[in-house]
Amino acid sequence: MRILGIETSCDETAIGVVEDGRKLLSSVVSSQVELHARYGGIVPEVASRQHVLAMLPIYRQALERAGVAARDLDAIAVTRGPGLAGSLLVGLNFAKGLALALGLPLVGVNHLEGHVYAQWLEAGADPADQPGFPLVILLVSGGHTEILLMEEHGRYKLLGMTRDDSAGEAFDKAARELGLGFPGGPEIQRVAAGVPVTERFTSPMLRDGTLDFSFSGLKTALLHRARAAQRAPVPALAAGFQRAVVDVLVAKALDAVERNNARGLLVGGGVAANALLREEARRRCPVPVFIPRPALCTDNGSMIAAAAFFMLQAGLPPPNVILDTDATPNLRLG
Ligand SMILES: Nc1ncnc2c1ncn2[C@@H]1O[C@H](COP(=O)(O)OP(=O)(O)OP(=O)(O)O)[C@@H](O)[C@H]1O
Ligand SMILES: [Mg+2]
Repeated sequence: MRILGIETSCDETAIGVVEDGRKLLSSVVSSQVELHARYGGIVPEVASRQHVLAMLPIYRQALERAGVAARDLDAIAVTRGPGLAGSLLVGLNFAKGLALALGLPLVGVNHLEGHVYAQWLEAGADPADQPGFPLVILLVSGGHTEILLMEEHGRYKLLGMTRDDSAGEAFDKAARELGLGFPGGPEIQRVAAGVPVTERFTSPMLRDGTLDFSFSGLKTALLHRARAAQRAPVPALAAGFQRAVVDVLVAKALDAVERNNARGLLVGGGVAANALLREEARRRCPVPVFIPRPALCTDNGSMIAAAAFFMLQAGLPPPNVILDTDATPNLRLG
């Protein structure tokens, strides 16, 4: 079964084609990052307009790179939330038009579930390489920081979440404070590479017994040190900040694994591209750790197509509700 997945929840116009939920045929991502960089964050109206301009060329490229014609597709999948309302609507309406024109089913996908299923694009055909259930999910992205228990395909229980900023937001704001570029996560990683941790920050809520997070205090601590008269060099501050974020993410994920006797840990979302997080999760976790390659951690259309395949297999969603499928900016998982 070949599914074309469309993703426009934020600032990437992305389309991918996936066969049977696991085989990646193409993934084309057009990032708007340069358009928003001068504002230091995403401007929703600018994002929606850019999606309109990029959509058709990206669609054509995705089919071409997959070596597939539109008539070879079996379903259209699209992110229906969470995300920016205007951006979601562009992708959703394009998807509806396509599904109606091609006479194909339309599957509305939760973007966060897409981040989870990015891993199935790595697993390949061998079931031994696939995550087993129950599986703890550490979902760390630009808008979310959550720990979920995935009990089976399509069934999630929310175990903990951030009480303020997401991990990605914390990286972005920290980078801005340090005079680095946007998005901040890759920038912090870049300047901190190979730098020993001499500037120590306290990891927030590390031993509070919950699976919740808080990053706003850490951000303020960084701000004070960055503005102090005797300030440490930017690489040292970045390395200390990155270490404090990673330590609390990994500690809580491991706690969730232990409490739930999980068979594996899956780390997903844009922040899962972080090298230190990947390394520490793999080093410290007693059960198998699954993290998609960095290009599949950040937003892409193939993860949406993969999620749709497993939804269809599980008999979720009610088949074909083209005109009823609506954008849900605050959609939740679990
Ligand atoms: N190497 C990295 N280290 C740390 N953070 C990173 C890295 N690469 C990307 N990020 C962060 O990932 C975030 C973007 O992730 P993603 O694209 O999944 O977010 P989003 O789609 O905007 O949010 P959501 O998925 O919650 O809707 C940004 O905050 C960015 O700084
Ligand atoms: Mg995302």
